[in-house]
Amino acid sequence: MKRIDHQHLSPESAGPPHALDEQTRPYSKEWLNAYWMPYTGNRDFKSKPRMLVSAKGCYYTTSDGRQVLDGLSGMWTSGLGHCRQEITQAIVKQCSTLDLSPSFQFSQPLAFELANKLVELTPEGLDHVFFTGSGSESADTSLKMARAYWRLKGKASKTRFIGREKGYHGVNFGGYAVGGMAANRKMFGQSVEVDHLPHTQLASNAFSKGMPKNGVELADELTRLIGLHDASNIAAVIIEPFSGSGGVVVPPEGYLQRIRDICSANNILLIFDEVITGFGRCGAYTGAQAFGVTPDIMNVAKQITNGVQPMGAVLTKADLYQTFMEHGGPDYLVEFAHGYTYSAHPVACAAALAALDLLVRDNMMEQINALAPYFENAVHSLRGVKHVVDIRNYGLACGISIDHHPGEPAKRPYEIAMKMYDKGFYVRYGGDTIQLAPPFIMTRAQIDSLINALAETINSL
Ligand SMILES: Cc1ncc(COP(=O)(O)O)c(C=O)c1O
Repeated sequence: MKRIDHQHLSPESAGPPHALDEQTRPYSKEWLNAYWMPYTGNRDFKSKPRMLVSAKGCYYTTSDGRQVLDGLSGMWTSGLGHCRQEITQAIVKQCSTLDLSPSFQFSQPLAFELANKLVELTPEGLDHVFFTGSGSESADTSLKMARAYWRLKGKASKTRFIGREKGYHGVNFGGYAVGGMAANRKMFGQSVEVDHLPHTQLASNAFSKGMPKNGVELADELTRLIGLHDASNIAAVIIEPFSGSGGVVVPPEGYLQRIRDICSANNILLIFDEVITGFGRCGAYTGAQAFGVTPDIMNVAKQITNGVQPMGAVLTKADLYQTFMEHGGPDYLVEFAHGYTYSAHPVACAAALAALDLLVRDNMMEQINALAPYFENAVHSLRGVKHVVDIRNYGLACGISIDHHPGEPAKRPYEIAMKMYDKGFYVRYGGDTIQLAPPFIMTRAQIDSLINALAETINSL
Protein backbone atom coordinates (compact mmCIF):
# COMPACT_ATOMS: atom_id res chain seq x y z
CA MET A 1 0.00 0.00 0.00
CA LYS A 2 1.28 3.44 -0.82
CA ARG A 3 1.96 5.83 2.02
CA ILE A 4 -0.55 8.68 2.22
CA ASP A 5 0.83 11.80 3.76
CA HIS A 6 -2.10 12.78 5.96
CA GLN A 7 -0.53 16.12 6.61
CA HIS A 8 -1.75 17.07 3.15
CA LEU A 9 -5.35 16.00 3.60
CA SER A 10 -7.90 18.33 5.05
CA PRO A 11 -9.26 17.14 8.42
CA GLU A 12 -12.74 17.82 7.02
CA SER A 13 -12.08 15.73 3.94
CA ALA A 14 -15.20 13.63 4.64
CA GLY A 15 -17.47 16.68 4.39
CA PRO A 16 -18.10 19.18 1.63
CA PRO A 17 -15.32 21.74 1.19
CA HIS A 18 -16.03 25.37 1.85
CA ALA A 19 -14.01 28.50 1.61
CA LEU A 20 -12.79 28.60 5.20
CA ASP A 21 -11.40 25.06 5.12
CA GLU A 22 -9.79 25.83 1.82
CA GLN A 23 -7.88 28.77 3.22
CA THR A 24 -6.03 26.41 5.53
CA ARG A 25 -5.66 23.53 3.10
CA PRO A 26 -1.96 22.93 2.49
CA TYR A 27 -1.56 22.92 -1.27
CA SER A 28 1.84 21.32 -1.15
CA LYS A 29 3.59 20.28 -4.37
CA GLU A 30 3.45 16.61 -3.26
CA TRP A 31 -0.29 16.72 -2.69
CA LEU A 32 -0.92 18.39 -6.02
CA ASN A 33 1.31 15.98 -7.87
CA ALA A 34 -0.95 12.92 -8.01
CA TYR A 35 -3.51 14.52 -10.27
CA TRP A 36 -2.41 14.70 -13.94
CA MET A 37 -4.60 17.55 -15.09
CA PRO A 38 -6.20 17.56 -18.54
CA TYR A 39 -5.35 20.25 -21.11
CA THR A 40 -3.46 22.16 -18.45
CA GLY A 41 0.08 23.33 -17.96
CA ASN A 42 0.48 21.06 -14.94
CA ARG A 43 3.79 22.57 -13.82
CA ASP A 44 2.42 26.08 -14.06
CA PHE A 45 -0.84 25.27 -12.27
CA LYS A 46 0.89 23.40 -9.48
CA SER A 47 3.23 26.30 -8.85
CA LYS A 48 0.22 28.61 -8.38
CA PRO A 49 -3.02 26.61 -8.05
CA ARG A 50 -6.26 28.18 -9.18
CA MET A 51 -8.77 26.30 -7.07
CA LEU A 52 -12.48 26.90 -7.37
CA VAL A 53 -14.49 25.60 -4.44
CA SER A 54 -18.06 26.68 -5.06
CA ALA A 55 -20.25 28.41 -7.62
CA LYS A 56 -23.53 30.25 -7.77
CA GLY A 57 -25.14 32.01 -10.72
CA CYS A 58 -22.43 33.73 -12.73
CA TYR A 59 -19.74 33.49 -10.06
CA TYR A 60 -17.17 31.04 -8.81
CA THR A 61 -15.67 31.28 -5.35
CA THR A 62 -11.96 30.54 -5.14
CA SER A 63 -10.17 28.69 -2.37
CA ASP A 64 -8.94 32.01 -1.03
CA GLY A 65 -12.49 33.29 -0.79
CA ARG A 66 -12.58 35.54 -3.89
CA GLN A 67 -15.52 35.87 -6.28
CA VAL A 68 -14.68 35.24 -9.93
CA LEU A 69 -17.08 36.20 -12.72
CA ASP A 70 -17.54 33.27 -15.10
CA GLY A 71 -16.82 34.54 -18.60
CA LEU A 72 -17.04 31.12 -20.27
CA SER A 73 -20.09 29.51 -18.65
CA GLY A 74 -17.82 26.93 -17.04
CA MET A 75 -16.59 25.19 -20.16
CA TRP A 76 -19.25 26.47 -22.55
CA THR A 77 -21.52 24.31 -20.46
CA SER A 78 -23.41 26.31 -17.88
CA GLY A 79 -25.46 28.95 -19.65
CA LEU A 80 -28.18 28.81 -17.03
CA GLY A 81 -25.69 29.73 -14.34
CA HIS A 82 -24.29 27.52 -11.61
CA CYS A 83 -26.01 25.47 -8.94
CA ARG A 84 -29.53 25.88 -10.25
CA GLN A 85 -31.87 24.43 -7.64
CA GLU A 86 -34.16 22.85 -10.21
CA ILE A 87 -31.32 20.78 -11.65
CA THR A 88 -29.83 19.93 -8.26
CA GLN A 89 -33.17 18.70 -6.98
CA ALA A 90 -33.78 16.59 -10.06
CA ILE A 91 -30.38 14.94 -9.58
CA VAL A 92 -30.90 14.30 -5.88
CA LYS A 93 -34.30 12.78 -6.54
CA GLN A 94 -32.98 10.55 -9.31
CA CYS A 95 -29.96 9.45 -7.28
CA SER A 96 -32.18 8.23 -4.50
CA THR A 97 -34.70 6.56 -6.85
CA LEU A 98 -32.67 4.83 -9.57
CA ASP A 99 -28.98 5.67 -9.38
CA LEU A 100 -27.94 3.50 -12.32
CA SER A 101 -29.63 1.17 -14.71
CA PRO A 102 -27.81 -1.07 -17.15
CA SER A 103 -27.69 0.78 -20.44
CA PHE A 104 -27.36 -2.38 -22.56
CA GLN A 105 -30.37 -4.70 -22.91
CA PHE A 106 -32.27 -2.74 -20.23
CA SER A 107 -33.16 0.91 -19.85
CA GLN A 108 -35.12 3.40 -17.82
CA PRO A 109 -37.95 5.80 -18.76
CA LEU A 110 -36.01 9.06 -18.53
CA ALA A 111 -33.85 7.99 -21.47
CA PHE A 112 -36.92 7.82 -23.71
CA GLU A 113 -38.39 11.00 -22.27
CA LEU A 114 -35.17 12.86 -22.93
CA ALA A 115 -34.80 11.42 -26.43
CA ASN A 116 -38.29 12.68 -27.28
CA LYS A 117 -37.49 16.07 -25.78
CA LEU A 118 -34.33 16.36 -27.88
CA VAL A 119 -36.19 15.40 -31.05
CA GLU A 120 -38.73 18.10 -30.22
CA LEU A 121 -36.15 20.85 -29.64
CA THR A 122 -33.86 20.14 -32.60
CA PRO A 123 -34.57 20.63 -36.32
CA GLU A 124 -37.25 18.66 -38.08
CA GLY A 125 -35.91 15.43 -39.50
CA LEU A 126 -33.54 14.56 -36.66
CA ASP A 127 -35.71 11.83 -35.17
CA HIS A 128 -33.50 9.44 -33.23
CA VAL A 129 -31.07 9.91 -30.36
CA PHE A 130 -28.06 7.84 -29.33
CA PHE A 131 -26.69 8.80 -25.90
CA THR A 132 -23.03 9.15 -25.01
CA GLY A 133 -21.12 10.48 -22.03
CA SER A 134 -19.34 13.47 -23.57
CA GLY A 135 -18.65 15.52 -26.66
CA SER A 136 -15.67 13.35 -27.59
CA GLU A 137 -17.78 10.23 -27.36
CA SER A 138 -20.43 11.90 -29.50
CA ALA A 139 -17.79 12.67 -32.15
CA ASP A 140 -16.49 9.13 -32.34
CA THR A 141 -20.00 7.69 -32.19
CA SER A 142 -21.09 9.81 -35.14
CA LEU A 143 -18.06 8.79 -37.22
CA LYS A 144 -18.59 5.10 -36.53
CA MET A 145 -22.28 5.50 -37.28
CA ALA A 146 -21.49 7.09 -40.63
CA ARG A 147 -19.08 4.34 -41.69
CA ALA A 148 -21.40 1.56 -40.56
CA TYR A 149 -24.34 3.20 -42.33
CA TRP A 150 -22.56 3.17 -45.68
CA ARG A 151 -21.43 -0.42 -45.16
CA LEU A 152 -25.04 -1.44 -44.53
CA LYS A 153 -26.00 0.41 -47.69
CA GLY A 154 -23.54 -1.74 -49.62
CA LYS A 155 -20.99 1.08 -49.94
CA ALA A 156 -18.27 -0.14 -47.62
CA SER A 157 -15.59 1.87 -49.42
CA LYS A 158 -17.05 5.10 -48.01
CA THR A 159 -14.74 5.39 -45.01
CA ARG A 160 -12.89 8.69 -45.38
CA PHE A 161 -13.86 11.77 -43.38
CA ILE A 162 -13.54 15.45 -44.12
CA GLY A 163 -12.99 17.77 -41.16
CA ARG A 164 -11.95 21.39 -41.13
CA GLU A 165 -8.94 23.37 -40.00
CA LYS A 166 -9.50 24.95 -36.59
CA GLY A 167 -12.22 22.37 -35.93
CA TYR A 168 -12.43 20.65 -32.55
CA HIS A 169 -14.22 17.37 -32.07
CA GLY A 170 -12.79 16.22 -28.79
CA VAL A 171 -9.89 13.99 -28.03
CA ASN A 172 -10.84 10.42 -28.83
CA PHE A 173 -9.35 8.52 -31.72
CA GLY A 174 -11.65 9.71 -34.45
CA GLY A 175 -12.29 13.13 -32.99
CA TYR A 176 -8.69 14.28 -32.79
CA ALA A 177 -8.07 13.14 -36.35
CA VAL A 178 -10.98 15.03 -37.89
CA GLY A 179 -10.18 18.01 -35.66
CA GLY A 180 -8.09 20.73 -37.19
CA MET A 181 -6.04 22.19 -34.39
CA ALA A 182 -2.42 21.20 -34.93
CA ALA A 183 -1.47 21.15 -31.25
CA ASN A 184 -4.13 18.51 -30.57
CA ARG A 185 -2.97 16.25 -33.39
CA LYS A 186 0.77 16.36 -33.59
CA MET A 187 1.56 13.94 -30.75
CA PHE A 188 -0.68 11.10 -31.78
CA GLY A 189 0.18 9.80 -35.23
CA GLN A 190 -2.21 8.38 -37.78
CA SER A 191 -5.79 7.62 -36.94
CA VAL A 192 -8.70 7.62 -39.40
CA GLU A 193 -8.32 8.65 -43.05
CA VAL A 194 -9.15 12.31 -43.14
CA ASP A 195 -8.75 15.50 -45.12
CA HIS A 196 -9.49 19.00 -43.94
CA LEU A 197 -11.36 21.88 -45.45
CA PRO A 198 -9.66 25.24 -44.97
CA HIS A 199 -10.84 27.27 -42.01
CA THR A 200 -12.84 30.39 -42.74
CA GLN A 201 -11.01 32.92 -40.58
CA LEU A 202 -10.02 35.41 -43.28
CA ALA A 203 -8.09 38.61 -42.68
CA SER A 204 -10.59 40.35 -44.95
CA ASN A 205 -13.32 39.48 -42.44
CA ALA A 206 -11.51 40.89 -39.40
CA PHE A 207 -13.82 42.53 -36.87
CA SER A 208 -16.97 41.17 -38.54
CA LYS A 209 -20.05 41.31 -36.39
CA GLY A 210 -21.91 38.03 -36.64
CA MET A 211 -21.58 36.17 -39.92
CA PRO A 212 -18.78 37.53 -42.12
CA LYS A 213 -19.40 38.48 -45.74
CA ASN A 214 -16.35 36.92 -47.41
CA GLY A 215 -15.44 33.31 -47.94
CA VAL A 216 -18.47 31.35 -49.11
CA GLU A 217 -16.27 29.96 -51.92
CA LEU A 218 -14.11 28.18 -49.32
CA ALA A 219 -16.92 25.60 -49.21
CA ASP A 220 -15.98 24.65 -52.78
CA GLU A 221 -12.80 23.08 -51.44
CA LEU A 222 -15.10 20.20 -50.60
CA THR A 223 -15.74 19.70 -54.30
CA ARG A 224 -11.98 19.62 -54.86
CA LEU A 225 -11.51 16.96 -52.16
CA ILE A 226 -14.34 14.92 -53.63
CA GLY A 227 -12.56 15.18 -56.98
CA LEU A 228 -9.36 13.94 -55.35
CA HIS A 229 -10.79 10.95 -53.48
CA ASP A 230 -14.12 10.33 -55.20
CA ALA A 231 -17.36 10.41 -53.25
CA SER A 232 -17.41 6.61 -53.26
CA ASN A 233 -14.63 6.77 -50.65
CA ILE A 234 -15.99 9.53 -48.42
CA ALA A 235 -18.34 8.78 -45.52
CA ALA A 236 -19.00 12.17 -43.99
CA VAL A 237 -18.06 15.78 -43.50
CA ILE A 238 -17.88 16.84 -39.86
CA ILE A 239 -17.83 20.51 -38.89
CA GLU A 240 -19.00 22.76 -36.10
CA PRO A 241 -21.57 25.36 -37.22
CA PHE A 242 -19.10 27.84 -35.76
CA SER A 243 -15.74 26.63 -34.51
CA GLY A 244 -15.72 27.21 -30.77
CA SER A 245 -12.43 26.06 -29.29
CA GLY A 246 -10.67 27.12 -32.49
CA GLY A 247 -11.48 30.72 -31.52
CA VAL A 248 -15.15 31.34 -32.42
CA VAL A 249 -14.76 31.22 -36.18
CA VAL A 250 -18.18 32.09 -37.57
CA PRO A 251 -19.16 30.71 -41.01
CA PRO A 252 -19.37 33.20 -43.87
CA GLU A 253 -22.82 33.92 -45.23
CA GLY A 254 -24.01 31.04 -47.42
CA TYR A 255 -21.10 28.76 -46.48
CA LEU A 256 -22.98 26.12 -44.44
CA GLN A 257 -25.73 25.86 -47.05
CA ARG A 258 -23.15 25.33 -49.78
CA ILE A 259 -21.48 22.57 -47.75
CA ARG A 260 -24.94 21.05 -47.25
CA ASP A 261 -25.66 21.17 -50.98
CA ILE A 262 -22.36 19.60 -51.96
CA CYS A 263 -22.83 16.79 -49.42
CA SER A 264 -26.36 16.10 -50.64
CA ALA A 265 -25.31 16.12 -54.29
CA ASN A 266 -22.53 13.62 -53.60
CA ASN A 267 -24.16 11.23 -51.15
CA ILE A 268 -21.91 12.29 -48.29
CA LEU A 269 -23.31 12.58 -44.77
CA LEU A 270 -23.08 15.95 -43.07
CA ILE A 271 -22.35 15.88 -39.33
CA PHE A 272 -22.72 19.04 -37.28
CA ASP A 273 -20.79 19.00 -34.05
CA GLU A 274 -23.01 21.17 -31.87
CA VAL A 275 -21.29 20.43 -28.59
CA ILE A 276 -20.76 24.18 -28.12
CA THR A 277 -23.41 25.64 -30.41
CA GLY A 278 -26.26 23.50 -29.06
CA PHE A 279 -28.92 24.62 -26.58
CA GLY A 280 -28.70 28.34 -26.65
CA ARG A 281 -25.19 29.60 -27.40
CA CYS A 282 -26.34 30.70 -30.89
CA GLY A 283 -29.65 32.13 -29.69
CA ALA A 284 -31.52 29.02 -30.87
CA TYR A 285 -31.77 25.48 -29.62
CA THR A 286 -29.17 24.47 -32.19
CA GLY A 287 -26.73 26.15 -34.53
CA ALA A 288 -28.56 24.31 -37.32
CA GLN A 289 -31.68 26.33 -36.53
CA ALA A 290 -29.75 29.56 -36.07
CA PHE A 291 -28.01 29.18 -39.43
CA GLY A 292 -30.93 27.49 -41.20
CA VAL A 293 -29.06 24.37 -42.33
CA THR A 294 -29.92 20.85 -41.18
CA PRO A 295 -27.27 18.11 -41.01
CA ASP A 296 -27.83 14.36 -41.25
CA ILE A 297 -26.24 13.77 -37.87
CA MET A 298 -25.92 16.19 -34.96
CA ASN A 299 -23.64 15.83 -31.95
CA VAL A 300 -24.43 17.55 -28.67
CA ALA A 301 -23.07 17.57 -25.08
CA LYS A 302 -22.08 20.27 -22.54
CA GLN A 303 -25.15 22.56 -22.24
CA ILE A 304 -27.49 19.58 -22.52
CA THR A 305 -27.24 19.17 -18.72
CA ASN A 306 -26.07 22.73 -18.05
CA GLY A 307 -22.75 20.96 -17.50
CA VAL A 308 -23.91 19.48 -14.22
CA GLN A 309 -23.64 15.86 -15.33
CA PRO A 310 -21.44 14.46 -18.08
CA MET A 311 -23.62 13.60 -21.06
CA GLY A 312 -23.62 13.73 -24.82
CA ALA A 313 -25.92 12.61 -27.60
CA VAL A 314 -25.94 11.96 -31.32
CA LEU A 315 -29.13 12.73 -33.22
CA THR A 316 -29.78 11.22 -36.61
CA LYS A 317 -32.24 11.33 -39.44
CA ALA A 318 -34.78 8.54 -39.71
CA ASP A 319 -33.08 7.00 -42.74
CA LEU A 320 -29.96 6.23 -40.72
CA TYR A 321 -31.81 4.62 -37.86
CA GLN A 322 -34.08 2.66 -40.21
CA THR A 323 -31.10 1.38 -42.19
CA PHE A 324 -29.60 -0.11 -39.02
CA MET A 325 -32.95 -1.61 -38.00
CA GLU A 326 -33.60 -3.13 -41.42
CA HIS A 327 -30.19 -4.77 -41.58
CA GLY A 328 -30.17 -5.93 -37.98
CA GLY A 329 -30.89 -9.62 -38.58
CA PRO A 330 -33.05 -11.43 -36.02
CA ASP A 331 -34.68 -9.06 -33.53
CA TYR A 332 -32.64 -10.24 -30.56
CA LEU A 333 -29.38 -9.19 -32.24
CA VAL A 334 -27.69 -5.84 -31.70
CA GLU A 335 -28.05 -3.52 -34.70
CA PHE A 336 -25.17 -1.15 -33.87
CA ALA A 337 -22.31 -2.70 -31.91
CA HIS A 338 -21.54 0.48 -30.02
CA GLY A 339 -22.52 2.12 -26.73
CA TYR A 340 -21.26 3.15 -23.32
CA THR A 341 -21.85 2.04 -19.75
CA TYR A 342 -22.98 5.59 -19.10
CA SER A 343 -25.17 6.02 -22.21
CA ALA A 344 -28.38 7.64 -20.94
CA HIS A 345 -27.24 7.46 -17.33
CA PRO A 346 -30.41 8.09 -15.30
CA VAL A 347 -28.89 10.89 -13.23
CA ALA A 348 -27.59 12.62 -16.35
CA CYS A 349 -31.01 12.22 -17.98
CA ALA A 350 -32.64 13.82 -14.95
CA ALA A 351 -30.18 16.71 -15.10
CA ALA A 352 -30.73 17.16 -18.84
CA LEU A 353 -34.51 17.12 -18.57
CA ALA A 354 -34.36 19.72 -15.80
CA ALA A 355 -31.88 21.89 -17.72
CA LEU A 356 -33.86 21.75 -20.97
CA ASP A 357 -37.07 22.51 -19.06
CA LEU A 358 -35.42 25.62 -17.68
CA LEU A 359 -34.35 26.75 -21.15
CA VAL A 360 -37.95 26.47 -22.29
CA ARG A 361 -39.70 27.66 -19.13
CA ASP A 362 -37.57 30.78 -18.79
CA ASN A 363 -37.80 31.68 -22.50
CA MET A 364 -34.07 31.53 -22.55
CA MET A 365 -33.76 31.83 -26.35
CA GLU A 366 -35.53 35.20 -26.23
CA GLN A 367 -33.32 36.29 -23.35
CA ILE A 368 -30.17 35.27 -25.23
CA ASN A 369 -31.28 37.07 -28.39
CA ALA A 370 -32.06 40.18 -26.36
CA LEU A 371 -28.63 40.13 -24.71
CA ALA A 372 -26.59 39.17 -27.79
CA PRO A 373 -26.57 42.63 -29.48
CA TYR A 374 -25.43 44.22 -26.22
CA PHE A 375 -22.70 41.61 -25.89
CA GLU A 376 -21.71 42.17 -29.52
CA ASN A 377 -21.31 45.91 -29.03
CA ALA A 378 -19.44 45.40 -25.79
CA VAL A 379 -16.89 42.98 -27.26
CA HIS A 380 -16.37 45.08 -30.37
CA SER A 381 -15.58 48.05 -28.14
CA LEU A 382 -12.24 46.25 -27.66
CA ARG A 383 -11.31 47.11 -31.23
CA GLY A 384 -8.36 49.46 -30.99
CA VAL A 385 -7.11 48.02 -27.73
CA LYS A 386 -3.42 47.19 -27.92
CA HIS A 387 -2.65 43.68 -29.36
CA VAL A 388 -6.26 43.03 -30.43
CA VAL A 389 -6.08 42.04 -34.10
CA ASP A 390 -9.55 40.54 -34.64
CA ILE A 391 -12.85 40.10 -32.84
CA ARG A 392 -15.47 37.56 -33.94
CA ASN A 393 -18.82 36.95 -32.33
CA TYR A 394 -22.06 35.08 -32.71
CA GLY A 395 -24.89 34.78 -30.20
CA LEU A 396 -23.25 34.77 -26.81
CA ALA A 397 -19.81 33.70 -27.99
CA CYS A 398 -16.76 35.70 -28.90
CA GLY A 399 -13.19 35.08 -29.98
CA ILE A 400 -10.58 37.80 -29.67
CA SER A 401 -7.32 37.27 -31.56
CA ILE A 402 -4.25 38.64 -29.87
CA ASP A 403 -1.09 39.41 -31.81
CA HIS A 404 1.65 37.25 -30.48
CA HIS A 405 5.18 37.04 -29.28
CA PRO A 406 7.26 35.55 -32.11
CA GLY A 407 6.85 31.75 -32.03
CA GLU A 408 4.68 31.81 -28.91
CA PRO A 409 1.07 32.36 -30.02
CA ALA A 410 -0.44 31.15 -26.76
CA LYS A 411 1.72 33.17 -24.36
CA ARG A 412 0.01 36.53 -24.43
CA PRO A 413 -3.53 35.09 -24.17
CA TYR A 414 -2.28 33.03 -21.23
CA GLU A 415 -0.88 36.15 -19.58
CA ILE A 416 -4.16 37.95 -20.14
CA ALA A 417 -6.22 35.10 -18.67
CA MET A 418 -4.00 34.90 -15.59
CA LYS A 419 -4.20 38.63 -14.94
CA MET A 420 -7.94 38.48 -15.44
CA TYR A 421 -8.19 35.71 -12.88
CA ASP A 422 -6.24 37.78 -10.38
CA LYS A 423 -8.76 40.57 -10.97
CA GLY A 424 -11.74 38.25 -10.44
CA PHE A 425 -12.65 37.21 -14.00
CA TYR A 426 -12.47 33.82 -15.69
CA VAL A 427 -11.87 33.88 -19.45
CA ARG A 428 -10.58 31.09 -21.67
CA TYR A 429 -7.31 31.29 -23.52
CA GLY A 430 -6.73 28.94 -26.45
CA GLY A 431 -4.17 29.28 -29.22
CA ASP A 432 -3.79 32.97 -29.98
CA THR A 433 -7.27 33.85 -28.75
CA ILE A 434 -9.21 34.87 -25.71
CA GLN A 435 -12.66 33.28 -25.76
CA LEU A 436 -15.80 34.51 -24.06
CA ALA A 437 -19.10 32.71 -23.63
CA PRO A 438 -21.03 34.35 -20.81
CA PRO A 439 -23.86 32.58 -19.03
CA PHE A 440 -27.18 33.36 -20.68
CA ILE A 441 -28.26 34.97 -17.41
CA MET A 442 -25.36 37.41 -17.22
CA THR A 443 -26.45 41.01 -16.69
CA ARG A 444 -25.41 43.93 -18.84
CA ALA A 445 -23.51 45.39 -15.90
CA GLN A 446 -21.58 42.13 -15.52
CA ILE A 447 -20.77 42.13 -19.25
CA ASP A 448 -19.51 45.70 -18.89
CA SER A 449 -17.29 44.80 -15.96
CA LEU A 450 -15.87 41.80 -17.86
CA ILE A 451 -15.09 43.84 -20.98
CA ASN A 452 -13.68 46.79 -19.02
CA ALA A 453 -11.40 44.46 -17.10
CA LEU A 454 -10.31 42.85 -20.36
CA ALA A 455 -9.52 46.19 -21.97
CA GLU A 456 -7.54 47.34 -18.96
CA THR A 457 -5.67 44.03 -18.74
CA ILE A 458 -4.72 43.82 -22.42
CA ASN A 459 -3.69 47.47 -22.47
CA SER A 460 -1.47 46.89 -19.46
CA LEU A 461 0.65 44.25 -21.23
C1 LIG B 1 -17.31 21.12 -30.76
C2 LIG B 1 -16.80 20.19 -29.71
N1 LIG B 1 -16.84 18.88 -29.92
C3 LIG B 1 -16.43 18.00 -29.00
C4 LIG B 1 -15.89 18.44 -27.81
C5 LIG B 1 -15.40 17.45 -26.81
O1 LIG B 1 -16.24 17.38 -25.72
P1 LIG B 1 -15.78 16.69 -24.37
O2 LIG B 1 -14.69 17.52 -23.80
O3 LIG B 1 -17.04 16.66 -23.56
O4 LIG B 1 -15.33 15.32 -24.72
C6 LIG B 1 -15.84 19.80 -27.54
C7 LIG B 1 -15.28 20.29 -26.27
O5 LIG B 1 -15.02 21.45 -26.09
C8 LIG B 1 -16.29 20.70 -28.52
O6 LIG B 1 -16.21 22.02 -28.33
